[in-house]
Amino acid sequence: MQSGFGGGPERWRNEREVILEAVDSDGDFLDIGCANGHLLECLCQWAQTKGIALTPFGIDYGPRLVELARQRLPQHANNFWVADAWDSQPPRRFRYVYSLYDNVPQVLLGEFVGRLAARCVEPGGTLIIGAYGSRREPAFDVGRFLRDSGYRLAGSASVGQPPVTCIAWVSLEVGRSEQTTHGPARPFGAPLASTEAE
Ligand SMILES: C[S@@+](CC[C@H](N)C(=O)[O-])C[C@H]1O[C@@H](n2cnc3c(N)ncnc32)[C@H](O)[C@@H]1O
Repeated sequence: MQSGFGGGPERWRNEREVILEAVDSDGDFLDIGCANGHLLECLCQWAQTKGIALTPFGIDYGPRLVELARQRLPQHANNFWVADAWDSQPPRRFRYVYSLYDNVPQVLLGEFVGRLAARCVEPGGTLIIGAYGSRREPAFDVGRFLRDSGYRLAGSASVGQPPVTCIAWVSLEVGRSEQTTHGPARPFGAPLASTEAE
C-alpha cells in the first residue's frame, strides 16, 4: 500500500521529494495525517541522500493506519499516535510539521494552520502545508492561500505545470511565544469519539 498513489516510484519521488525543499537541517519531522507512514519513510530516505537526518513522527485518526505505520517503521513505533489533528495537542513540539491542506474543510484551514503553529511547531521550526493535484486538476495553491490568510511565507515550491504538488512553508521565529487561544486540545493518543475513528 503506497498512500493511494497511482503512479510508479519515479513519479512518486518526483512529486513528493519537493517537500524536502522546506527542510535544511536534521530534525524531527511530524506528518499530520501520516496514513501508513510511506511518505515519512521515503522522506527520511531521500533526506539521508542529501546528508540530512530526519526522525519520523506521525499522527492519523485511523487506528489501523497508525498500526501500519508502526509496522513499517518499527524502530520508531513509539513515534506514532492516533489523534485528530484538529483538536489534539502533542506531548512535545517538532522541528518540522507537515500537513496536507485538505486534512480539514477549507473554511477551517486558516484556523487549522494557526493551531498547528501554536501547538506542534518548536520555536525556529517550520510548518509545511502541502497540496496534491493531478495531471487534470492542478494542486490547490497553498502559498496563495497562506499569504491571503496573513501568513508570511518562508518559501514555496511546486512540481509540474500545471502543478501536481504545491507546498508552502512558514517559519516560527525563535523566542516567539505562540498564542494558545485555539480552544481545548486532547493529548495525542487520547481516545477519539467512535465516529471519528476508523
Ligand atoms: C492522503 S493521506 C496523506 C498521507 C501522507 N501524509 C502523504 O502526504 O502522502 C491523508 C491522511 O490524513 C488522515 N487525516 C485526514 N484528516 C485528519 C485529521 N484531521 N487528523 C488526523 N488525520 C487525518 C487520513 O486518515 C489519511 O490517512
